[in-house]
Amino acid sequence: MGYFDGRTALITGSGSGIGRATARIMAERGANVIVHDLNRAGAEETAELVRKAGRKASVAICDVSDIAAMRNAVAEGEKQFGAIDILVNNAGVPSDRCPLEEVTEEMFERSMRVHVKGTLFTTQAVVPGMKRRMAGKIVNISSIQGTVGYANGATYNGAKAAVLAMAKGWAKELAPWKINVNIVAPGHCLTPMPMSKDSPETIAKKAEGIPFKRYAQPEEMGYAIAYLCSPEADFVTGQVISPNGGYTII
Ligand SMILES: NC(=O)c1ccc[n+]([C@@H]2O[C@H](COP(=O)([O-])OP(=O)(O)OC[C@H]3O[C@@H](n4cnc5c(N)ncnc54)[C@H](O)[C@@H]3O)[C@@H](O)[C@H]2O)c1
Repeated sequence: MGYFDGRTALITGSGSGIGRATARIMAERGANVIVHDLNRAGAEETAELVRKAGRKASVAICDVSDIAAMRNAVAEGEKQFGAIDILVNNAGVPSDRCPLEEVTEEMFERSMRVHVKGTLFTTQAVVPGMKRRMAGKIVNISSIQGTVGYANGATYNGAKAAVLAMAKGWAKELAPWKINVNIVAPGHCLTPMPMSKDSPETIAKKAEGIPFKRYAQPEEMGYAIAYLCSPEADFVTGQVISPNGGYTII
């Protein structure tokens, strides 16, 4: 039993990291989950966690930036579960980390395609059902790179700021239908994403620059995301929660 009983969540990129932790937390609080990812093995593992929590899971495998495939995944999910009540736009790719002069068109297109195009058109596919039901919760996953910016992170900074700004606009646009749209902007979080770029020594060094002197666990993002999708956040829209251990305190 939980406040997501009878609700269904579509979580993009939930075959790993923050998306997987969010799927598990939401399932433990009652949600059925459509586990979406490019990576089938990861998605199946997450689906198993949802089922272990006693909820239903389905798996949708496609590129989040493939508009037709995502429309199909949304239609299938609605057919199977009756509705998609919650959307978490979480699928993401790492920052390219290079000086501005070295940014290539491919880097730009990849970051914008996955984060911006994927988020926009997945939301476009899910919103009509939410409007019909006059209810819905959407969370876009941005980053501290989208709020304070990083040196050598042009494409990721830009994409994550776009994801944040789109959510604020949708919060205003969709309020008449009682659809809440919010943002979680994670700080450093121990998932395969940073671990694919940094050694354990580099991660330990970077943690020294965080007031709490550590990276977050994926669950610490999942709790914030689950809150924003819960009835406790019915009056919260267009807001940013940034679990970051104090990194962005000015
Ligand atoms: N980990 C961090 O420190 C951190 C910090 C800030 C923001 N974020 C953001 O959080 C979100 C989750 O990241 P994570 O840390 O859990 O990383 P992760 O690599 O563990 O998970 C990302 C998932 O997205 C999937 N994915 C990537 N491209 C896809 C595509 N085109 N279509 C479908 N699925 C795709 C991957 O297969 C993977 O399962 C991302 O949007 C990321 O940018 C992470």
